[in-house]
Amino acid sequence: MCGIIAYFGNRKAVPVLIDGLKKLEYRGYDSAGICLLNEGVPAEQGLLYVAKVKGRVSELEKIIPSSEVSKIGIAHTRWATHGEPSEVNAHPHFDCKKEIAVVHNGIIENYGALKEILENEGHKFASKTDSEVVSHLIEKFYQGNLEEAVVKALKLVEGTFGLAIMCKGEKKIVVARRGSPIVLGIGENENIIASDAVAVLPYTKKVIYLKDNEMVVLTENNYSIKNFNGQEVEKIIDEIKWSASEIEKKGYKHFMLKEIFEQPNAIENTLRGRIDNDSKIKLTVDIDLKSIKRVIIVACGTSWHSALIGKYLIEKIAKISVEVDYASEFRYRNPIIGAGDLLMVISQSGETADVLAALREGKNKGAKTLGIINVVGSTVAREVDSGIYLHAGPEIGVASTKAFSCQVTALLLFAIFFAQHKGEKVDKELISEIAFLPGKVDEVLHESDKILEIAKKFKDAQDFIYLGRGINFPVALEGALKLKEISYIHAEGYPAAEMKHGPIALIDEKMPVLFLATKDNTYSKILSNMEEVRARGGQVIAVVNEAGNDINNLTKNVIVVPKCREEITPIINTIPLQLLAYHIANLKGIDVDKPKNLAKSVTVE
Ligand code: M6R
Repeated sequence: MCGIIAYFGNRKAVPVLIDGLKKLEYRGYDSAGICLLNEGVPAEQGLLYVAKVKGRVSELEKIIPSSEVSKIGIAHTRWATHGEPSEVNAHPHFDCKKEIAVVHNGIIENYGALKEILENEGHKFASKTDSEVVSHLIEKFYQGNLEEAVVKALKLVEGTFGLAIMCKGEKKIVVARRGSPIVLGIGENENIIASDAVAVLPYTKKVIYLKDNEMVVLTENNYSIKNFNGQEVEKIIDEIKWSASEIEKKGYKHFMLKEIFEQPNAIENTLRGRIDNDSKIKLTVDIDLKSIKRVIIVACGTSWHSALIGKYLIEKIAKISVEVDYASEFRYRNPIIGAGDLLMVISQSGETADVLAALREGKNKGAKTLGIINVVGSTVAREVDSGIYLHAGPEIGVASTKAFSCQVTALLLFAIFFAQHKGEKVDKELISEIAFLPGKVDEVLHESDKILEIAKKFKDAQDFIYLGRGINFPVALEGALKLKEISYIHAEGYPAAEMKHGPIALIDEKMPVLFLATKDNTYSKILSNMEEVRARGGQVIAVVNEAGNDINNLTKNVIVVPKCREEITPIINTIPLQLLAYHIANLKGIDVDKPKNLAKSVTVE
């Protein structure tokens, strides 16, 4: 969480830093701050200009005078971990003399012990943050060379960090990484550092991704990359494939809405070139799948819901046993995993701390690892044995939408690919139907106005229940997560048959219950569950692919989606739930792209 950015170049730093922070705001948005190395005075006298606010980057922007012409600066947008959101806890943080400025993303786990030592040595702390210990530690070791002081300080620090540091008197920015993403954008006579490539994209497509325990030193028209022992490191310059326009709203009110509507195209990109004319799935998976006896999938949040659908698909199509775990739980239960196991990790961002920890646990124990990732060059992408990229394009809205549908598409492709490698027979009809998926998703998007009418009826509900069965049970979970994330309405997902084992106690005339009731072999059972809800006065919303009298007699709130094979229904059925959550949240006037307390990329454990 948190976004950091640093600029050293030939244009005014403020617009670059503010624009970058706005692009990084999805990582946290409870407070923001900036520090500039003032020019116009000799470097050794260079002064630090500082501004901080509680709240959004737009508030920070308002208080910076246009007279600030410095071309060197660092900035931060925060998602609070230690210390409440406030101006004093906003970054940058300083040493006692206010000469060393630090912005930090991550968690300093031993900050308590370090703070005690530093306080005993006379350091006075201004904030409640863990991050402030870094600036005081650097002060402790500073003897006229910032880089050296940073290295000495970081030797004592435990935890994760992406850091950008400046100090009065030295015309340079020192950046260091351990466990929090850092990308260096290399421009013409300018260099930009950020937590995510989206912030450097307007200036350059040439980037270098830092690995753990590496640092960059930016100086006039120059950069050098070293390890923490001071040795230069050779790095490959990558090229960002996304265009700057992909990270704009393009006329949509919110990124989330744009991303919902991008799904036909995004899914098309996930599929592109991966199904050949003989119905063979082509994926570059450099793992001997014939040696795999069991699959374990780990993920968090929405990606965990994809994993649950993946279990269903892989077991059904490739006929191999699959376990699914929350990445955050996996590592701490000393999992039984090793040779013969395939550990799949699913992560849109490729930076989720819990996912990375689970991946490393599985790798250390000898499992083969496969990633399903959207962000090219992300840490997960670099650490897995093999990967499948989604090519969904950047997802900026905090609530994941197109990444989910593309993850499920990729899992479907992988299940068939796996089956074909094992010599399992795969129904050709399924493979040919996948080609129609983008068109079917587009059909659902045409229902948006009808879904808006349903949203108007239920926007004031306090609670919601989502019910589905089989492969659509995880869809119910995903629908409930989407609603609670962005509308703050309490929502629960259950397998429909579980309702009578407890949740039915909650049903009354105030409780909307959304049923995923597309036709499959449990359809008649789902109808009975709807009757049970109606009998208790509950209000039914039904997602169906055949609107007959059986449904119409039970509810007027019917969303009709196109018919498709069962394996494809999770993708089709999720789209109306995304739209319902979006419309409800938007009607409630919530900032859908930045819901309270959340951040898109959860880089702390
Ligand atoms: O980047 P990841 O897919 O690893 O992120 C996992 C979760 O943090 C993420 O899906 C989260 O639940 C979203 N806010 C869901 O909308």
